[in-house]
Amino acid sequence: MLPCINWLQPFLALISSTLLTRGNNCPSSCLCPDHHTVNCAGQGLTKVPDSIPLDVRRLLLSNNWIPWIPSDFLVLYSDLVYLDLRNNSLSQLEPGTLSTSSRLVFLDLGSNNLTEISSETFGESRSLIKLRLGNNPYLTMVGRDAFTGLTSLRELELEWNGLTVLDVRVLEPLPSLRMLRLEGNPWLCNCHFAKLFVWLKENQHKLPTGMEGIECSLPLDGRRVPLSLLSEDSFRECHGALTLTDYLIVIFSGISVSVAAIMASFFLASTVHCFQRLSKGSKGDEEEGND
Ligand SMILES: *[C@@H]1O[C@H](CO)[C@@H](O)[C@H](O)[C@H]1NC(C)=O
Ligand SMILES: *[C@@H]1O[C@H](CO)[C@@H](O)[C@H](O)[C@H]1NC(C)=O
Repeated sequence: MLPCINWLQPFLALISSTLLTRGNNCPSSCLCPDHHTVNCAGQGLTKVPDSIPLDVRRLLLSNNWIPWIPSDFLVLYSDLVYLDLRNNSLSQLEPGTLSTSSRLVFLDLGSNNLTEISSETFGESRSLIKLRLGNNPYLTMVGRDAFTGLTSLRELELEWNGLTVLDVRVLEPLPSLRMLRLEGNPWLCNCHFAKLFVWLKENQHKLPTGMEGIECSLPLDGRRVPLSLLSEDSFRECHGALTLTDYLIVIFSGISVSVAAIMASFFLASTVHCFQRLSKGSKGDEEEGND
């Protein structure tokens, strides 16, 4: 028995030292309740801690003052599955920061100060299932291809942002979407909203608040009404959501067509006149010849 323990001793020492090293790897002011979780929530952090173990899977950084994420963040922590950055001071995401992740399933960027979600932000994050982007009051721009590669995305939160309009092509390439939050934005029900309205009407089962929970301002008097009070007829005078530029092009091409028509008829008229004179002239010649 005793020799056996003797033999085991170095082995046990090795295991415990490995465990201890892991323990030491937990960033100060963070908790590491298990091997794959690092919890630094609410620690007054002004940057992402340096000494996070590279094999972290759940990283909780909510309720801090973190203003940016290094652009190689997810290259470094490539095992991350769950990343919570809720209630920080993020104002922008460098393109590519989040696009390299293939394992990330849950990402919370809610309650930050983001202004724009550009088309290159998420790239091909095919594992992402839940994306929270709500409560970013200055978020007014979502790039047309912002969510294009997110084929597994089931839940998308964009509530209580500063959005007045959203290109419907942002939502169309999301085959797995089950839940979409858009309430609390200052939506404008002008002609730019027409296509989104049609999409929302067809997909209203995905809206937890339904159409009645989303309000928009009417273009004429700015009155806010729930979408449930509107119908596709409300956008009828938009003629397929023509923009001002479209109208200008239509008017301009109308003018060009009229000018071309006037020129053509003038040309025709002069040709006819010419022929008439010619034939009159030759008639006269004939008459003269007859004399
Ligand atoms: C956001 O984080 C700050 C700083 O830690 C905290 O004081 C505040 O209570 C948090 N807000 C919410 C809604 O959790
Ligand atoms: C959030 O962004 C706005 C405008 O971009 C800025 O005025 C404001 O100071 C920012 N707030 C914080 C807490 O960073």
